[in-house]
Amino acid sequence: MTTKPQKVKKIVLAYSGGLDTSVILPWLKDKYGCEVIAFAADLGQGADELDGIKQKARASGANKCIVADLRKQFAENHCFKLLAASALYEGVYMLGTAIARPLIAKAQVECAKAENADAVAHGCTGKGNDQVRFELTYMALAPKLKIISPWKDPSFELTSRQAAVRYAKKRGIPVAQTKKKIYSRDRNLWHISHEGGDLENIANEPASSLWVMSVPLSAAPNKPGYVQIDFKSGVPVALDGVRLGGHELIARLNALGGKHAIGQVDLVENRLVGIKCREVYETPGGTILFEAHRALESVTLDRETLHYKQQVALKYAEMVYYGQWYCPLREALDAFIAKTQQKVTGSVRIKCFKGRAATAAIDSPNSLYSPALASFTMGDEYTPSDATGFIRLFGLQMKGRGNPRG
Ligand code: ARG
Repeated sequence: MTTKPQKVKKIVLAYSGGLDTSVILPWLKDKYGCEVIAFAADLGQGADELDGIKQKARASGANKCIVADLRKQFAENHCFKLLAASALYEGVYMLGTAIARPLIAKAQVECAKAENADAVAHGCTGKGNDQVRFELTYMALAPKLKIISPWKDPSFELTSRQAAVRYAKKRGIPVAQTKKKIYSRDRNLWHISHEGGDLENIANEPASSLWVMSVPLSAAPNKPGYVQIDFKSGVPVALDGVRLGGHELIARLNALGGKHAIGQVDLVENRLVGIKCREVYETPGGTILFEAHRALESVTLDRETLHYKQQVALKYAEMVYYGQWYCPLREALDAFIAKTQQKVTGSVRIKCFKGRAATAAIDSPNSLYSPALASFTMGDEYTPSDATGFIRLFGLQMKGRGNPRG
């Protein structure tokens, strides 16, 4: 089945250098008969994916390839917002893929504007979350740009690896590894995700050869590693007293956490499109940061704010997962979160050991923790006999329930 192509004069494709986007590029040129610019974002996915990417794009027929280094922006404006929000999807997923998409799509839209393109394209499949995240961002930032999503186009026939390899060979596009990849992976500075292969059977434990950013738990050293993280208003600013940019700070914690097998998560999650899928994640540095931030909030936030913020975190995580980054509500929640973070300043010492990041020490000039109040030794500020009346009234309803006729 073929669909009549809409008229397009220049397309900016979100390009990764992998096989999928490498065949989409010439396919777009064939179908639309127009210029195609390959746009790649450096989010810390590493040399494996980025080295030689411009040559690859050109070999696939790109008229131009633009690579934008967004690592600092990704760390500071995206990952650190998740951290301040304490956002976890379904309790454990640290949103490493979800948080990257709006930034890639935003930079892609800016590239389209600068290059005078009238369309943007992405290579996400029609079954996942990423297509939604890309397209919602395009719609929010450039509603007039045409959106091309080949995998949802009935005339796109390169959805199997064999078909893609055949197509690439026919066009003389170099296919680097003809070896079949076991997992579908997505890597950046914050995390790596693994799906597919033997993971599709939920009875299978992740193979120890799966881990990329961390060692298998069984290979974690017997000696703990310590790190001190300094926060200023909820933002991590230094490691062991050394001030670092966000991306460097995360990279260093990834190395430490990875060595101790920290941040490995195995989850069957609910995709936005209604499918349950099995995902394995590694977020070593992020996991250390979340623990340190949690500990600091535990002493700097009052109970009401902390508890309300926990509810906000659920909504925030859901919005990030659903690709609703450029929604007014997300921005409003960020304003709330920023207010809560004003006093979240101090240092936390973390012990990394056998897959776990544990708080070893907390220090904050804004600590609300009062040893005098908490101590079993009575002080002047708290009169235990006051609690008698408080409990009598607080528990009044309890009595009524147990003895209805009074
Ligand atoms: N399930 C995760 C998410 O939706 C990870 C998706 C991985 N994406 C990918 N293109 N391989 O955020």
